[in-house]
Amino acid sequence: MDDPHVNNDTNQQIISLEGIKIKQIKDEARQDPNQFWSDCAKNLVWFKEWQQVLDWNYPFAKWFVGGKLNAAYNCLDKHLTTKKKNQAAIIWEGEDGESVTITYNQLFRRVNQLANSFKRMGIKKGDRITIYLPMIPELPISMLACARIGAIHSVIFSGFSSQSIIDRVNDAKSKIIITADGGYRRGKIVPLKRIVDEAVKNTPSIEKVIVVKRTHEDLIMGENDIWFENLVNKESSFCPPEWMESNDPLFILYTSGTTGKPKGVVHGSGGYLTHLYISAKWVFDFNATDIFFCTADIGWITGHSYIVYAPLMHGVTEIIYEGAPDFPDPDRYWKIVEKHGTTILYTTPTALRSYMRYGNEIPNSYDLSSLRLLGTVGEPINPEVWKWYFDVIGKKNCPIIDTWWQTETGGIMISMCPGIENLKMKPGSGSFSLPGIEIEIVDDRGIKIEDGKKGYLTIKKPWPGMLISLWNNKERYKETYWQKAENSFFTGDFAYQDNDKYIWVLGRADDILKVAGHRLGTIELESAFVSHPSIAEAAVTSKRDKIKGETIIAFLVLRKEIQPTQNLSIEVNEHIKRTIGPIASAEKIYFVNKLPKTRSGKIMRRLLKSIVNKETIGDISTLEDEASIEEISHELDAINKQI
Ligand code: WT7
Repeated sequence: MDDPHVNNDTNQQIISLEGIKIKQIKDEARQDPNQFWSDCAKNLVWFKEWQQVLDWNYPFAKWFVGGKLNAAYNCLDKHLTTKKKNQAAIIWEGEDGESVTITYNQLFRRVNQLANSFKRMGIKKGDRITIYLPMIPELPISMLACARIGAIHSVIFSGFSSQSIIDRVNDAKSKIIITADGGYRRGKIVPLKRIVDEAVKNTPSIEKVIVVKRTHEDLIMGENDIWFENLVNKESSFCPPEWMESNDPLFILYTSGTTGKPKGVVHGSGGYLTHLYISAKWVFDFNATDIFFCTADIGWITGHSYIVYAPLMHGVTEIIYEGAPDFPDPDRYWKIVEKHGTTILYTTPTALRSYMRYGNEIPNSYDLSSLRLLGTVGEPINPEVWKWYFDVIGKKNCPIIDTWWQTETGGIMISMCPGIENLKMKPGSGSFSLPGIEIEIVDDRGIKIEDGKKGYLTIKKPWPGMLISLWNNKERYKETYWQKAENSFFTGDFAYQDNDKYIWVLGRADDILKVAGHRLGTIELESAFVSHPSIAEAAVTSKRDKIKGETIIAFLVLRKEIQPTQNLSIEVNEHIKRTIGPIASAEKIYFVNKLPKTRSGKIMRRLLKSIVNKETIGDISTLEDEASIEEISHELDAINKQI
């Protein structure tokens, strides 16, 4: 359990800003959790009140049982009777610098039109719709249109490949895919429709492909392809919202796990939206004049929760940016902050690290004075990067919220809460869990460990944003999250609590990598490598990286008679990009004769990790009864020579 973060003095510095007391709220949550969450849920608009706050049938939680509501109604209709109606919901900024403002009323009309189109196409409550779109307004519009009629959306990040689409569509048995002709990425066009064309050859459930015009490519439209514009323009701008039971699925979002197959995380609406509403209030302290800029892609949970649902429920104005942070110049976020008067910026350590590399002059040349709050998410933030964010971007006036959560938790679980709290920040620590959220750090046996010691981060009690289950796989849900620590949710992260009880999340404890904040499973990557005709075996591990946090390193055993060449290495990497997507490309590939394994055949990835990170390998003798030491040592020597 050695880690450079633990008990490092520079991390313990406290930076204080004024706020309001949180203790009372936490006490209330502890004393009567049902009453507490029930009060939180009353912030939403319900068509019918629930009969029971929580039905906890371990490990399945049902929140606000019997309550009826609609997510799109809570994001849109509710604002139509207020001043919000004609105010900006979305300021969309294109990669080419064009911007478009969409009011709540305009957004409402578009969502309703698309919802009516879905109905005309025979889509019913509970049907699945896959969305494979770049960061354009039609992405949130499509999600909300699904929510309106009770169809379950499954958004796939538009950087994923055809094969990834096939796996996800077939698991969900979606009837429709919504895509675009193309998407812009660093000035180049990603041919999204062509990627979808490849995929739909192998997705029997797909009946129609809806295509948004973005890049105006010359496309061949097949008989099941329909242009988005042609479809929606003729529809009426009102579609009655479906009354959804609180625990009916709102969406499926696939995320990498520790096996080869991504997991379909399912979220509902009553609990999930309650968690989002209240966490956004505590953490972002949203108010009517906020211009909120969350830089995540909507294809990940951050975008689902804190671009689509939470900000719209709160009626704030939000910025959706289409492109890359450094295109055409490494200043895009700062340019956008100045141009639209952003008040809250929510971004990732990877983006900050890459901006920091370009020095202070670039951000200093922009007017960032509109900012009042800065957030980070997705990976641990290094204290030096935290300080740069605080000093150079926030000019020492903006609190920093380091928010820890996961696809599975639905919403933020650990963070400072500027909306309700006295702010004593420690750079690099997310601080404490939110009111009502009980965290515990445990050892291998699931027993609570003392402060200062590194262990597994677990969550002791169900919380409203908790995933409902894994799509069509209750067993995997139980196994993955509920069998490693007794009666607690297993997050898969390492963490420790310091003497002031601040929580420090140190990174994944399992076979999941975080590359530039993107979650990738080592086994998923290894399967992709092995699907190349020249590869017999693969072991994937990660190396620490100054910008991306971690990068992918692959050890590959070639099939008989195949020679390791530079060209083969390039070709294999291209294969990975085609199989999973560009985010999965390896930083370095090593061809080896044998992989270090235990006697039972398990690849010893931890050993490989120590080698690539040039750490001491530790005591190999402890592995003696599991592995053939001689063989491994021999291989490690060979690998070491290559590094
Ligand atoms: C994993 C979840 C949270 C939404 C985006 C990622 C890591 C997330 C932090 C943070 C340290 C963090 C964890 C977690 N992580 N936030 N503030 N500090 N680590 O969602 O793709 O489901 O990944 O991201 O390892 O388990 P995700």
